[in-house]
Amino acid sequence: MRRSILSNLSRSSSFTPRSFNSINCQTLSHRRSPILGPGRHRTLSQTSTMFKVGDDFEKIQASRPDFKHDVPVTFSKPPNPEWKQGDGANDGGESLKKDHVEIDPHEDGRPVAFNYKLLISGMVPRPIALVSTKSKDGKTTNLAPFSYSQVINHDPPLFVVGFAGSFDKAKDTLKNLSETEECVINIISEHFVEAANATAINAPYGVSEWDVSGLTQAPSSIVQPARVKESVLSIEAKLVETKEFESRTTPGKKTGVLAIVEGVRFWVRDDAINEEKNLVDLKVLKPISRLGGISYGRTTDALEIPRPQF
Ligand SMILES: Cc1cc2nc3c(=O)[nH]c(=O)nc-3n(C[C@H](O)[C@H](O)[C@H](O)COP(=O)(O)O)c2cc1C
Repeated sequence: MRRSILSNLSRSSSFTPRSFNSINCQTLSHRRSPILGPGRHRTLSQTSTMFKVGDDFEKIQASRPDFKHDVPVTFSKPPNPEWKQGDGANDGGESLKKDHVEIDPHEDGRPVAFNYKLLISGMVPRPIALVSTKSKDGKTTNLAPFSYSQVINHDPPLFVVGFAGSFDKAKDTLKNLSETEECVINIISEHFVEAANATAINAPYGVSEWDVSGLTQAPSSIVQPARVKESVLSIEAKLVETKEFESRTTPGKKTGVLAIVEGVRFWVRDDAINEEKNLVDLKVLKPISRLGGISYGRTTDALEIPRPQF
């Protein structure tokens, strides 16, 4: 039976650089869509054109250095190892000299896609759940990445996945998940980032992204969908609850669905887990995160700061 974790949740829910400069903004085509005049609002599900790379993308990509395969995970000291309570920022007050731009997400004429672009470029890095599901009749399989994803509790182990669009026009993953109440969340590592990205293809329902990606199905224990064998960490999960959200700019229109799933089995590659089975080795996991636009991030630089005690 689905528990009502969300019952108290509120129902709410021409690119001109200012001093802004980032790789994803250089490489993506940011030409204004002719269908979007002032006041015309584009929903998140209509954002696929935003991922169209510019004509010069191949040239830009070719000019970049090769991927460094053997970058070790290194731990450095924190920026200010001498920091004491009350010291504040470690930049000598530099950040206090900067001003902020106030943005009303629903201000007149602001396309909703602008909020999407702002949020996915600013709320970074995000873990990516590569979600494996199966159709209700068991005949078709599905695999797709979702970066509106996170672990939100450990007892029980709970995870969220956010789907753009409504139940009416559900993405294949959401359709399968809501009908079967099962999925496997696979964490993406550097060694299969291209294949994982390929699973985002907008294939029609019933067409398996496993084939497109070349990834390998491994049997799950508790749930029907397969886990990704290449994945260092996979989580078999069962649906706890879903909640559909409504647009603010187009009242009445359903534009997003949140799914909460409970992890019922963990799979960790044996060279990545310690003796006690309670730590995943970052050096083996080499997780890939989602940044803005079509950018992905690596996690190779880390630092440790002891937790404060009162
Ligand atoms: C790295 C990455 C992260 C993504 N995150 C999300 C997300 O959080 N929510 C969403 O609705 N779509 C997301 N997408 C887009 C979906 O993966 C895409 O719509 C896919 O075709 C859905 O597949 P499905 O219809 O088989 O479920 C993401 C795509 C990529 C490449």
